[in-house]
Amino acid sequence: MHNSQQALEQYQQQFGEGARLFFSPGRINLLGEHVDYNGGFVLPAAINKGIWFAIAVNNTNTAHFVAADVNESFSVELDDIKKQSGWQNYVLGILHILQKKKLVIGGFNCLFGGNVPQGAGLSSSAALEAGLVYALDKLFDLALTTQQMALIAQEAEHSFPGTKCGIMDMFASLHGKEGHCMLLDCNSLHYEYFPIVETEYELVLINSNVHHSLNDGQYNKRRQEAMEGLSFFQMINKNITSFRSVSPEVVTQFKDNLEEKVFDRCLYITQEIDRTKKAAEYLKANDLLEFGKLMYKTHKGLSELYEVSCGELDYLVMEAKMQYDVIGSRMMGGGFGGCTINLIAKNNRESVVSSIVTSYQRMYNIEPEVYLVETSNGTHEMV
Ligand code: GLA
Repeated sequence: MHNSQQALEQYQQQFGEGARLFFSPGRINLLGEHVDYNGGFVLPAAINKGIWFAIAVNNTNTAHFVAADVNESFSVELDDIKKQSGWQNYVLGILHILQKKKLVIGGFNCLFGGNVPQGAGLSSSAALEAGLVYALDKLFDLALTTQQMALIAQEAEHSFPGTKCGIMDMFASLHGKEGHCMLLDCNSLHYEYFPIVETEYELVLINSNVHHSLNDGQYNKRRQEAMEGLSFFQMINKNITSFRSVSPEVVTQFKDNLEEKVFDRCLYITQEIDRTKKAAEYLKANDLLEFGKLMYKTHKGLSELYEVSCGELDYLVMEAKMQYDVIGSRMMGGGFGGCTINLIAKNNRESVVSSIVTSYQRMYNIEPEVYLVETSNGTHEMV
């Protein structure tokens, strides 16, 4: 689906008149990867790819859903919400958490579809969850704040699809601001917008087209290893509440006390928390060259210490690094596939990207997709 009009027309064919229209964006993340659930900072921005919802109250006790892009539909009685499988869990998870919180909703018809590629690390699932909770809030006057919506969406993802994700994706989707990224403190949920200023460089996403699925266990495993590491440091110092108060030097000091993988994970997390703070300073000062160097360091950490990259992503970053006109590149999002994010000189972008893409195709026989980043406002009703 490519626009809200299509959502509206398809809704009308299925359910008739009277729908309200909402848009919920996907996100990019400039830096701060796998630290949202480790008490770090992240630098996400909502993008102009997302999900459109056409939705209206139906005065019954049934929720009807149509996933237009895959041409599938299902209905559920609101007093019989149970876990299923597939995309159904993303929407059912939201209904389940609303009920758990005694937030009363009635029946509704909802058709949704979008243009945010799935499994590309652009948070299509968070866009779906954030969009649904936002729309239901408006339909049933739940009076939730956008922060509460983000927390509900996160809890929904934990409960039904089962990925123990951090808060970044849903928060970014709900709080995006066109032309800006945000520095989000994932401990306090305090955030600050930074303008993405026009410079001679631009942000380009290259989709490896290796599709990742975060609920295949590896994501939760990383989270568990990180928690193991944190528990160790809390044993040493009970004032530690998150990795925010552990430095890479302290992690290194206790190398011999930690299991090898747990040490690697802790080292990456503490380094990435420091890097994101620095990155925000560079962004403020508009020093993209230094910012780009941190992107490469983050990639190395994600690949070698946190082990969430894959051969294809490493190859894309390696190819990017060989180009003089690329000043930063790294895998983005949960990993195991999806996109790299690249900072590329505008005046030479086309030839640089074409050279990376050609080389990748030759190597893997997979055609990557390229997206120029355009930021957008957060989840909103369309008028
Ligand atoms: C996924 C998760 C986020 C975050 C990123 C990695 O997108 O949903 O919470 O952990 O991976 O930074």
